Amino acid sequence: MLNLNELFEVIKIDVKNSKTIEELDQIRIKYLGKKGILTSYAKNLKNFSIEEKKKYSIITSKKKQEIISEINIKKQKLILSILEQRIKEETIDISLPGRRIERGCFHPITHTINHIKNFFVKLGFQSINSPEIEDEYHNFNALNISQNHPARDSHDTFWFDNNRLLRTQTSSMQIRIMKKEKPPMRFIFPGKVYRNDYDITHTPMFHQIEGLIVDKNINFSNLKWIIYNFLYDFFGKEVSIKFRPSYFPFTVLSAEVDIFNDSGKPLEILGCGMVHPNVLKNVNIDSSIYSACAFGIGIERITMLRYGISDLRSFFENDIRFLNQFKYN
Ligand code: DAH
Repeated sequence: MLNLNELFEVIKIDVKNSKTIEELDQIRIKYLGKKGILTSYAKNLKNFSIEEKKKYSIITSKKKQEIISEINIKKQKLILSILEQRIKEETIDISLPGRRIERGCFHPITHTINHIKNFFVKLGFQSINSPEIEDEYHNFNALNISQNHPARDSHDTFWFDNNRLLRTQTSSMQIRIMKKEKPPMRFIFPGKVYRNDYDITHTPMFHQIEGLIVDKNINFSNLKWIIYNFLYDFFGKEVSIKFRPSYFPFTVLSAEVDIFNDSGKPLEILGCGMVHPNVLKNVNIDSSIYSACAFGIGIERITMLRYGISDLRSFFENDIRFLNQFKYN
């Protein structure tokens, strides 16, 4: 009994004198661990009578609890003193700015597409996504671009085989939607188009937004109104433009719209026109009842004009210094 009491005193002194958490841990293992002194002491009790065993085990377990709680208290003290030591040694510069979380942003082309969508949705247009892999029928034939039409050459098409291709224009969606829906209809189709071209003003992939209205009594002045208002909204101010007569196989009354930049130079930004009766016939719309107008806007061009970007290729080089400039637009 005396032995045991002495042992407890020794343990308490050891705990009290320990200077580090590691040391404290060693003490715990030494006395209370599986092979610890106290544990083996309890094992030796087997030679005692039942009464004695009971008495000893009650005392031991009580003492053991005491020691455990002393170890825990000491541990907290040590942790606290380590912390105090650190606070004393380290200085915190509270004037240091916090770490910023970098925010991503939309690509300028996405910005433009979203902006355009918003405008047209307000006018009752519906925006539809469309397939980039097309067939000859939708991309050319049904749009009144015949087999040996020179317009095909100007498109420098990427063919997969002798029927399937990467669409060269979003106009192919005019055919798909007019076949599917009944007039009246108003749609826009934003998306990627592909042509085998690469220089300072051409990339093999670029973006267009196609617009289509089919209704009774649609005429060229409706088209002009929409284009004017769209450009006013897009550039946020009156811009100087010109409807220049042009030619597209799928429109009759065809025009291209030029916008004049600050130095008075005209830049072509879109093609438009009244949908050709042959095209309406191809999609089974009676051109004696309905008329349609359409337009195709080059997204990169107008984005360049809006932000003053001089090289088309910078859209696709993914230079973070370029892209970061569009964070707050
Ligand atoms: N698809 C033409 C192009 O890529 C642009 C275009 C012209 C679209 C006239 C139209 C249109 O809808 O009516 O060059």
